[in-house]
Amino acid sequence: MELQGKRILLGITGGVAAYKAASLLRLMTGAGAQVQVVMTGPATRFVTPVTFQALSGRPVYVDQWDPRMPNNMAHIDLSREADAILVAPASANFLARVAQGLADDLLTTLVLARDCPLLVAPAMNRQMWENPATRRNVASLRQDGIEIFGPAAGVQACGEAGEGRMLEPGELLESLLAFFTPKLLAGRRVLMTAGPTFEAIDPVRGITNLSSGRMGYAIAQAAARAGSQVTLVSGPVSLPVPQGVERIPVLSALEMHAAVMERAARADVFIGVAAVADYRVAAVAHQKLKKELGGLPEIRLLANPDILADVAALPGAPFCVGFAAESENLEEYAQRKRQRKNVPLIVGNLIQDGFGGEDNRVILFDDQGSHPLPPASKAELARQLIEYLARLLEKRECTGST
Ligand code: PMT
Repeated sequence: MELQGKRILLGITGGVAAYKAASLLRLMTGAGAQVQVVMTGPATRFVTPVTFQALSGRPVYVDQWDPRMPNNMAHIDLSREADAILVAPASANFLARVAQGLADDLLTTLVLARDCPLLVAPAMNRQMWENPATRRNVASLRQDGIEIFGPAAGVQACGEAGEGRMLEPGELLESLLAFFTPKLLAGRRVLMTAGPTFEAIDPVRGITNLSSGRMGYAIAQAAARAGSQVTLVSGPVSLPVPQGVERIPVLSALEMHAAVMERAARADVFIGVAAVADYRVAAVAHQKLKKELGGLPEIRLLANPDILADVAALPGAPFCVGFAAESENLEEYAQRKRQRKNVPLIVGNLIQDGFGGEDNRVILFDDQGSHPLPPASKAELARQLIEYLARLLEKRECTGST
């Protein structure tokens, strides 16, 4: 539960995108947040407070003079209870009023009285967004330290297309998670591999493995949330690209090797999570192999380059993290791999725990020995791995080792 213990005030202003705030609220509570909803009067014309009351399990506040607050200080009490205020959708009118410091309804009043961060997700027609007055307002909100999530470009409710659409609820949740994540890798460039490779036999057949890409994608997501610039060289998987991550799709180990080597000199950290095929087919058939030709086809294999070892051998190599997937003797084989490939950190997992699935169990191996992490979701393990990695990088820089 990535937002466990977080208290978030969700402000909803008048706009068609208000209906999406219901899904956003579900995602936030699903991630463990306690959400208090405050709506503006116009917002209640689009969606009723009852919807948000049912979804949040709390009364929804709209009116500054709401008699339910014992001291009649809704604006103070509600904003003091929050770790952050997220306004989604934030209309052009709301942004203008906040930029001016106006406090003419409950939401703007508690925003003015807040002592916590304010995050806004603008939603409006493209011309309202492009209007110089809105540009000025957004610039001054930024100057005041207010986080602006989006907006996105696309088809709008009015039928026009352009910038001004509110980010989708899933994207807003991700922006919120990134906001709360300490920026332990700020300014670092992380290059990664994930997923399986596919080694062609003929135009339709090939040799591959059961890696789903989940472990690698979770690490890419965690690294991006921690403030690094992430490039993910990915074998064929059916996962969405994590927000803020650049994905380079590849198929074979040779393609993965080329994509990584082209970028490795510019990376500060390299993390090899991909299950790279150790062998490829020596002579790939240009046409589909036909059964009626008789006999069993013979497939000769060639060794693929070792991407991790090649990156680690570069002069001025990035800090390298490898993975080891073993079916037995995890500690012994992982340590051996760490030495053979000459990498400072290896993440060991058993094949039965790691391949496919949402959860994993890993042990970290480095100069200091072995560090088992409790079994957890791949997302949680990724978060812990990034924290561990950030501490190692910091320690190395302090001691001046390479
Ligand atoms: O994708 P999931 O379903 O979530 O599964 C995750 C995982 C089990 C694939 C992942 O946690 C994992 O263990 N990845 C490494 C799998 C693997 O191929 O391990 P290995 O022991 O064969 O390789 C050791 C290291 O060398 C790995 O970092 C690998 O990326 C790298 N390698 C291997 C061969 C090669 N030719 N080039 C490489 O860079």
